[in-house]
Amino acid sequence: MPICDFRFAELQSKIGNRKSKIHPDYTCILMPNQDALIRLENVTRQYAVGARSLFALRGVSLDIRAGEFVALVGPSGSGKSTLLNLIGGIDKPDEGMVYVADLPINTQSENELAIWRGETIGIVFQFFQLLPTLTALENVMLPLELRHSFPNHQRERAADALERVGLAERATQLPSELSGGEQQRVAIARALANDPPILLADEPTGNLDSENGQRILDLLNDLHRGGKTVVLVTHDDALARAAQKIVRMRDGQIIATESAD
Ligand SMILES: Nc1ncnc2c1ncn2[C@@H]1O[C@H](COP(=O)(O)OP(=O)(O)OP(=O)(O)O)[C@@H](O)[C@H]1O
Ligand SMILES: [Mg+2]
Repeated sequence: MPICDFRFAELQSKIGNRKSKIHPDYTCILMPNQDALIRLENVTRQYAVGARSLFALRGVSLDIRAGEFVALVGPSGSGKSTLLNLIGGIDKPDEGMVYVADLPINTQSENELAIWRGETIGIVFQFFQLLPTLTALENVMLPLELRHSFPNHQRERAADALERVGLAERATQLPSELSGGEQQRVAIARALANDPPILLADEPTGNLDSENGQRILDLLNDLHRGGKTVVLVTHDDALARAAQKIVRMRDGQIIATESAD
């Protein structure tokens, strides 16, 4: 695989300027750089629960470099999904800033974010969020259709993505006709179909047996080796150990960062 002929600054301009598109054939190795591709600065997210405030995140700061593979771990309720949703622009912080390639995510409009997300990020949601009336293949094709990317190859790319997660034979089935683990793998295929430079995956092996869990682990490793930035939430130690950096969360805060480097 060739090494990208652009480095962080160029990637930043490609992603940061939402009028421009990411390189359409994003199949090269992006050399990991010391600069942060994803940066959270003193981020707080709180929810009103009855008369009181519940802090899902309290003053979290985190840098993730381009090409890095990071695992977020921590007890249930510690703020992992909240943090991932902020990086993906699904949710906004109450205080602090979230930057992806220097684009301040939390100050963009919903429309701007939708375009930016389609170009930049693949998200595997903890609870899949597949559309119930679309088949597995159609669910995976949806982001390609929305972005008008790979116009003549959408079906083929979606079928390839399903194949990568071992679901080629389930393409015509509706989510209700799939097991939980199969639905989860469709969600992973959907996140990969656009070939985004950043992958956010929330418990992507939570419903899988060890064989399929291993398949997803291999896939994440491949994606990382191919230059993608991967941020993974997991309770699975084996999966976390595959990452270069483990970020431990508790009660809405980062309590430790361990680097495998
Ligand atoms: N919409 C909401 N309204 C109120 N509280 C919320 C909301 N979403 C999340 N929370 C609270 O924020 C905290 C962090 O939630 P989050 O989903 O980020 O946890 P998590 O670390 O992903 O947990 P899990 O491992 O169970 O998925 C939890 O205490 C949760 O109850
Ligand atoms: Mg969660």
